[in-house]
Amino acid sequence: MAETNQMEKIVSFCKRRGFIFPTSEIYGGLANSYSYGPYGVELKNNIKKMWWKKFVQKRPDIVGMDGPILLNSKLWEASGHTTGFNDAMVDCKKCQKRFRADHLVKELTGEDMEGELERMTQVLQTGLKCPECGKSDWTEVKKMSQMFSTEMNGVEGLIYLRPETAGAIFSDYKNIVDSMRVKIPFGVAQIGKAFRNEIVARNFIFRIREFEQMEIEYFIEPEAEWEVMFEKWLDEQEEFALSIGAKKEDLKRYEHPKAKLSHYSRKTVDTEYNFPFGFGELFGLAHRGDFDLSQHSKFSGQKLDYFDQTNNKRYTPHVLEPTVGLDRLILTAICAGYTEEKLENGEERTVLKFPNAVAPIKIAVFPLMKNKPELVEKARGIFENLSEQWMCEFDDNGNVGKRYRRQDEIGTPYCVTVDFESLEDGAVTVRDRDTMRQERIQIAELESYFGNKLN
Ligand code: GAP
Repeated sequence: MAETNQMEKIVSFCKRRGFIFPTSEIYGGLANSYSYGPYGVELKNNIKKMWWKKFVQKRPDIVGMDGPILLNSKLWEASGHTTGFNDAMVDCKKCQKRFRADHLVKELTGEDMEGELERMTQVLQTGLKCPECGKSDWTEVKKMSQMFSTEMNGVEGLIYLRPETAGAIFSDYKNIVDSMRVKIPFGVAQIGKAFRNEIVARNFIFRIREFEQMEIEYFIEPEAEWEVMFEKWLDEQEEFALSIGAKKEDLKRYEHPKAKLSHYSRKTVDTEYNFPFGFGELFGLAHRGDFDLSQHSKFSGQKLDYFDQTNNKRYTPHVLEPTVGLDRLILTAICAGYTEEKLENGEERTVLKFPNAVAPIKIAVFPLMKNKPELVEKARGIFENLSEQWMCEFDDNGNVGKRYRRQDEIGTPYCVTVDFESLEDGAVTVRDRDTMRQERIQIAELESYFGNKLN
């Protein structure tokens, strides 16, 4: 199957099955913007919870925080975003289609010319054809800021929707050091929205303008053996990708060439996933030196250093920054789980083979027939009991085979059916999504049965 077909299939599947919808659709939509539907929001919350558990709950060296989207604009001056957070754009004069120039030049020539505006203009004007209309009539390549701006009552000048979550962590560094007994090395983690006025949003939720990031700023001693920590972070990022269902062979690392690194960065490595449209960045990991704390200290006039009691010295910590886009993780989980299977009886089924922790619905509960009140009542009781602990769905619509297929499609690992025998023997049929095997389990034992499987 062509790769684009696979992506189209996934996009329409996500809409049809309540995961992700084009947003504002009744008004004609809004340029590649999406809403998460009822199953999408569960999937999203599950991935956030898994990340928080792995990187905050289980880490004595990492604390969490939740900063605002709107921050003092000086912060973005200090970080260099107000002047330097630009992408290169070019328009086709014939069809008016807008492109991100470096992506276009790479697609047409194979060469990476990121940041070289003049050279990109020259190369495009050697007769390179617009992939949209086939003509060759280009504007000059120009810089375009990726910052979204707005105004706030009582505040002079523009303020910005944060382009990354990291800024809030640096601006609250001092509060965290003063209020928590953090000891270096320590990290601060945050999950939240970020906004970038991307020239071209594309590939479904891979590149969008309003997205969510999960970032950690990990503060280390300047002389620490950072290479070892860096490798460990790369492994942890990979582990997390595997835990949401990505296969190892679909992950690869890309180290940014030294010549392209910012002056303060010692090393940056992306972990890429093999999406249906090709490999694309999922995680980033950068050694940012003391750039951020030093800049914020300079622009705010506040001391942003650390007193190391163990070694009796004061210094500005260096930072390792592991980051990931939540929407890209969601796309990864869906692409990795999406499976079309031919069964032995010749039937076909679509299954989202999500790991249990990722699945939006953990257990579906069915009465065998909806017009038998004694079955419905028993099934309702089971639903009420199990939904105290897990996200469950009650379904009494259509035959049981069809209900199984619906749950397979949304990745529900277990289905429970209450039948006439249940009224006699107090047991129900539990069916496993992947093996499709069925077993009888006593209703009184369901909680511990699912506790073992799901917790
Ligand atoms: N604080 C560092 C930082 O923001 P980045 O590589 O620009 O680094 C981090 O972004 C992660 O955010 C990326 O690895 C990617 O997963 C995600 N991301 C970036 N731009 C995105 C976009 N337009 N849509 C969806 N996710 C995006």
